[in-house]
Amino acid sequence: MKPETLLYEGKAKQLFLTEDPAIVRVRYKDAATAFNGEKKATLAGKGVLNNRISAFFFQLLREQGIANHFIKEISPIEQWVKKVAIIPLEVVVRNVAAGSLSKRLGLTEGSPLRHPVIELYLKDDALGDPLINEDHISVLEIATVAQLTEMKGTALKVNEVLRNFLAQKNILLVDFKLEFGVDDSGDVMLADEISPDTCRFWDMATGNRMDKDRFRRDLGNVIEAYEEIWNRLGGREDV
Ligand code: C5P
Repeated sequence: MKPETLLYEGKAKQLFLTEDPAIVRVRYKDAATAFNGEKKATLAGKGVLNNRISAFFFQLLREQGIANHFIKEISPIEQWVKKVAIIPLEVVVRNVAAGSLSKRLGLTEGSPLRHPVIELYLKDDALGDPLINEDHISVLEIATVAQLTEMKGTALKVNEVLRNFLAQKNILLVDFKLEFGVDDSGDVMLADEISPDTCRFWDMATGNRMDKDRFRRDLGNVIEAYEEIWNRLGGREDV
């Protein structure tokens, strides 16, 4: 077997080069981290579930006309994706107050928001991923106005598609985080992952949390909750 060339290692994923310079292999790890890496654990089975769930959502979004980096699953924990240069922004969309929004604005967790709220955070571990605005993004030359407009438009479309789809599965899409990249032609494209690590999913009937908050808040049954999401999606196991 040829040695693997690691391109990048993040907290939850590794990226490897492939023989095709336009394609990257993503491996989802079992590692769970929270609070900027301060809390760490290994959760056996998380890599498989997040690989499957992320692939499922990217395919669903593509079917709904939202271009993204996903190509195909190649193993239970790996997928091929298009190589893009990640824009160092976390684009968060919120439908219901929770997490840092509740803290920052004093809103009770679970209060519905009158309309979706988009927030932009700088992807920078050393700075603790601060909330930033469009002027900050401009002076830091992180993205152009056109790119930002496109990212925000896509984020709202993703919200519509996922929120409606998940509602049919009795799952409330509370909020989620997206990342975008720029491909070789200079086009902005949805990238990274969409999984219970990056979204808040609540059971519509009980409010039970089926996402990474179970790990962040020591609620237990983390993997069981991720499995429940996968089961409700009715996803197939292609590989
Ligand atoms: O913590 P906060 O309430 O700001 O998170 C909003 C949403 O963004 C949550 O769904 C969370 O899982 C996601 N998020 C993420 N990665 C981060 C910060 C937040 O996936 N670094």
